Amino acid sequence: MKILITAGPTREPLDPVRFLSNRSSGRMGYALAKAFALRKDHVLLISGPTTLPIPDHVDYIPVESAQEMYDEVAHHLNQMDVAIFCAAVADYTPATIADQKIKKSEDTITITLKKTPDILGSARSLMNFGGYLVGFAAETENLEANARRKLETKLCDMIIANDVSQVVIGFDSHENEVLIVEAAENTALPRDSKEHLARHIAEIIMLRSRQKNDPAARS
Ligand code: CTP
Repeated sequence: MKILITAGPTREPLDPVRFLSNRSSGRMGYALAKAFALRKDHVLLISGPTTLPIPDHVDYIPVESAQEMYDEVAHHLNQMDVAIFCAAVADYTPATIADQKIKKSEDTITITLKKTPDILGSARSLMNFGGYLVGFAAETENLEANARRKLETKLCDMIIANDVSQVVIGFDSHENEVLIVEAAENTALPRDSKEHLARHIAEIIMLRSRQKNDPAARS
C-alpha cells in the first residue's frame, strides 16, 4: 500500500529572518511513518521542520510553509492508497512578507494574517482523492463533537483526536492518548508512547482501508 503522511509544524515567513510557527514536534507523524515502513508499506513523508531523524525506508520531502505543503500533497496525493494528515499546519500566514528585516520602531505593531489553504479539507474536493483519508484534530475542548464535525466537513474516513489542553500528552510530548472517530463508532486508545500508539493506529487504518475497498471484509 502507498501511504502519504504529513507531519510537523509549518513555518510562515514574516521577513527574511522571522516566521510564525507552533509547538508541534512531528513525533506522532514520524512514529506513524516508521510504523507503516516496518509493515513494508511504501511511505511518503511530507514534513515541516523538525529535529527528528528521518525514519528508514521512507521517502521524504521537506517543506516549510503551509502553501509548500499543500503543493507537494497536491502533486503526490492521487498516487496514494491512504493519506494521513498529521501536520500541525498554520491556519493563518502573514498577508505580506517583508523583503528586509522588520526594524524595531513603534511600541506595538500589527501584523495582518490571511488564511492558509486547508490541505485536508481540499483532499476530496479540489484534489479528488478517492483513497482512505485520515485527519487529526488537536482540541482543547469538546473533543468528540469537534472531531466528528471535522470528519463530516472534511469528508474524512477517520479523525484521530487528541486533547492538547493536557500538557503530558499531545504537542511536543513523547506520549499521547487519542480518540479515533469514525462515522459508525469511536475507539479510545489510552495513554501510551507515540511509538506504541502509532503501531496500533497503523493496524486499525490498514484494516479499515481494506474494509472500505472490500465491504464484505467487515463481516
Ligand atoms: N490541516 C490541513 N491544512 C490546514 C489546517 C489543518 O491539512 N491548513 C489538517 C491538519 O493536518 C489536521 C486537520 O486538518 O489533520 C485538523 O487540523 P486542526 O487545526 O485541528 O483543524 P482546523 O480545520 O484548522 O480547525 P480549528 O483550528 O478551527 O479547530
